[in-house]
Amino acid sequence: MSKRFYITTAIDYVNGQPHLGHAYEKIIADVIARARRSLGQEVFFLTGLDEHGQKVQQAAQAEKKNPQEYCDALAADWLAFAKKLELTNDDFVRTTQPRHKEFVQTTLSKLNDSGHFYKATYTGFYSAKEETFLTEKDRLPDGKFDASYGDVVELKEDNYYFKLGAHQQWLIDYIEANPDFISPSYRRNEVLGFLKNNTLEDLCISRPLARLNWGIPLPFDKDFVTYVWFDALVNYTSIAHAHETLGLWPADIHVIGKDIVKFHAVYWPIMLKAMGLPLPKQILVHGWWQKDGAKISKSTGNIIDPIAVINEWGLDAFRFYVLRELDVGPDGNWTDAGFRARYQAELGNGLGNLVNRSLSMLKRYRNGIVPVRSNELAADADKAADETRALFKQSQLQAALQSIWTLVNRANKYVDETAPFKLAKDPAQAQRLDEVLYNLAESCRVLAVLLNPFLPGTSAKIYAQLGLTGAPDKLADASWGGLPAGHTIGEPAPLFPRKDEK
Ligand code: MSP
Repeated sequence: MSKRFYITTAIDYVNGQPHLGHAYEKIIADVIARARRSLGQEVFFLTGLDEHGQKVQQAAQAEKKNPQEYCDALAADWLAFAKKLELTNDDFVRTTQPRHKEFVQTTLSKLNDSGHFYKATYTGFYSAKEETFLTEKDRLPDGKFDASYGDVVELKEDNYYFKLGAHQQWLIDYIEANPDFISPSYRRNEVLGFLKNNTLEDLCISRPLARLNWGIPLPFDKDFVTYVWFDALVNYTSIAHAHETLGLWPADIHVIGKDIVKFHAVYWPIMLKAMGLPLPKQILVHGWWQKDGAKISKSTGNIIDPIAVINEWGLDAFRFYVLRELDVGPDGNWTDAGFRARYQAELGNGLGNLVNRSLSMLKRYRNGIVPVRSNELAADADKAADETRALFKQSQLQAALQSIWTLVNRANKYVDETAPFKLAKDPAQAQRLDEVLYNLAESCRVLAVLLNPFLPGTSAKIYAQLGLTGAPDKLADASWGGLPAGHTIGEPAPLFPRKDEK
């Protein structure tokens, strides 16, 4: 049996409410997870929260809460959000869980014992206000630091370092030998460019307790806590370890955003090498969303509340828009007008209209009883199914939707060409009408199967309206001819009701 397909998302900082960017990433991972299950693979899908570190500690302080209480309160919202998106995650990690903390400490001890760390004194310019060391690059042209950093003082600090630099050439060789390791290829080229043109400095993996207390203590020195990225990245393995019997590691895909590529494609592989663990098969990097051409930002109010969109338009419309509008890779731009246009054209007039008129005519002209099989649209349906299967294996989600919509459009055109409402008026055309009605109903069934990973709710509704029991969740069922003659369908109902323009 093949290994379980292990897919993860970035774990989000719990310093606020989830937004479009978080939702997008989780939906990408969920669709890939569902697609793999549809292909017949066993899947483990992990998402969760990154709860330690300065950002969270500061956010908790601002609300005058202790960090754990603060995280617990927000974690409930994030869990509810995962439900709202109907994510099919198999676990949900919180980095404050003992199962994770213990694994991080074990990992740190092992790495320390095998000589991967050393302690050193760092002298640098420290901004207490931003709680960060500044570098020469942060200086203004006049040599001073920006006023936003507050008082900047020269500070001497002891810390632990991970010998990252030693593995630079090994990593370059690895990425060159494994072209799919970082996807899309332009992200891979950026990482290679970075590695070839810079000397990797050793990674500081600790923070003095005096400066940051919201973290996992270093097991070999209680005056320090773990640097948040060393803690966070390890979640992918701590949770694999928590489900040891499933043999999850190495992960098949880490889905992440473009801002955290260096952590996943440089630090993480070297950490894994030091731990003696195999590398994940792929780092899949998505782009960033803007809204109306500007950065999404709480402070300027330029935000999209995914929950509000879902409440108004339905979950599947939201899932559809983000994946159809934006390929996994480039940056995207959300506009409300663009969202409405896709809802109306592709979902309402495209898919919704096809299913509704196909099933309504079958109901009206044949009492809902499926006629004998006919294969006029079989080649179109098979082509869409074959392409979808291949694209699922490459996580090409936007291309899969485009391919599926060639069948939607073909079938809608077929209605116009064959004009079943005219055929119905002429008793001599009864057999022709049977053929047309079969092709349409069967196309709807195939579409339900192909669309299942993207639009699970809609897919289930199409199956129910076709009067089919069981779930449309196996791609193998997309082969033409699944609707048996004599089967009685259920009740047609609009899938994407028209919304009157405000
Ligand atoms: N906690 C770290 C990740 C640790 S992974 C071991 C983190 N958290 S985050 O909450 O800031 O971001 C989580 C994910 O959301 C990242 O992959 C990030 O790229 C993504 N996005 C945040 N804003 C986004 C957009 N505006 N658009 C698309 N994705 C964005 O980084």
